[in-house]
Amino acid sequence: MTDDGTPALTLEAVGVRYPDGTEALDGVTLHLAAGEFTAVVGPSGCGKSTLLRLAAGLLKPTAGTVARASDRLGFVFQDPTLLPWRSVRRNVELSGELTGVPARERRARAEDALRRVGLSHVADALPGTLSGGMRMRVSLARTLTGRPELMLFDEPFGSVDEITRARLGDDLQELFAADGFAGLLVTHSVAEAVYLSQRVVVMADRPGRVVGEVAVPLPYPRLPEVRFSPAFTALTSQVTALLQGGTADRIEVAA
Ligand SMILES: Nc1ncnc2c1ncn2[C@@H]1O[C@H](COP(=O)(O)OP(=O)(O)OP(=O)(O)O)[C@@H](O)[C@H]1O
Ligand SMILES: [Mg+2]
Repeated sequence: MTDDGTPALTLEAVGVRYPDGTEALDGVTLHLAAGEFTAVVGPSGCGKSTLLRLAAGLLKPTAGTVARASDRLGFVFQDPTLLPWRSVRRNVELSGELTGVPARERRARAEDALRRVGLSHVADALPGTLSGGMRMRVSLARTLTGRPELMLFDEPFGSVDEITRARLGDDLQELFAADGFAGLLVTHSVAEAVYLSQRVVVMADRPGRVVGEVAVPLPYPRLPEVRFSPAFTALTSQVTALLQGGTADRIEVAA
């Protein structure tokens, strides 16, 4: 991990204008400390995926600068993007294959990652025989094999049911606690954003920009029942107020 105070990710006054003239982002400044988990919420089309593509280096900004402390990067998309003809184990080995990790090492990393997401028992299965939640775990395991210092999540649990989604969130929290990667999580769920992160960044559209942020001082590990606490409710209200175009800075929240 980078522990010298260098942010894991720095965006300074970033703008993105797509070739067709769409102004996807304007004046976005965001610093993600090493080991910090930040969530991003905002209306559809406000530039959240664009922000993650910038963070991943898949897209260059048309204004401002983007810097990452490490190239050890993991990206988890809404769709698990597994190869249907490869076993679960060989899907998890894929990132290692692509980056030239020797066979024995990548097999060991895959076994370890599958154990961590609770899927050792289906290592030989094909993805088509798994549930949506399990497929998402395979995708998470594949990302973990690269030992990322920065994890980017683009609505990773959007396609699974609510109970599975909550379980995946708890698994993610455990992995975060153990590995200490910096995380940037895009989600449509305000509750999920607050539950998982140390800070929620709120965006608005036209042009895509950051309109505020809410610090989440709740201690980890967060247990499911924290969702019913007054502090949690106050935090989700603050985020919702920002999403609706208001301000959130006058509400007092006790940790
Ligand atoms: N390759 C592209 N070319 C032109 N416009 C694009 C491109 N990709 C995205 N856009 C536009 O940029 C804006 C931001 O898109 P983006 O996908 O980042 O939004 P988002 O916040 O992730 O939305 P959602 O919540 O629906 O996933 C939208 O207006 C979108 O139509
Ligand atoms: Mg998106």
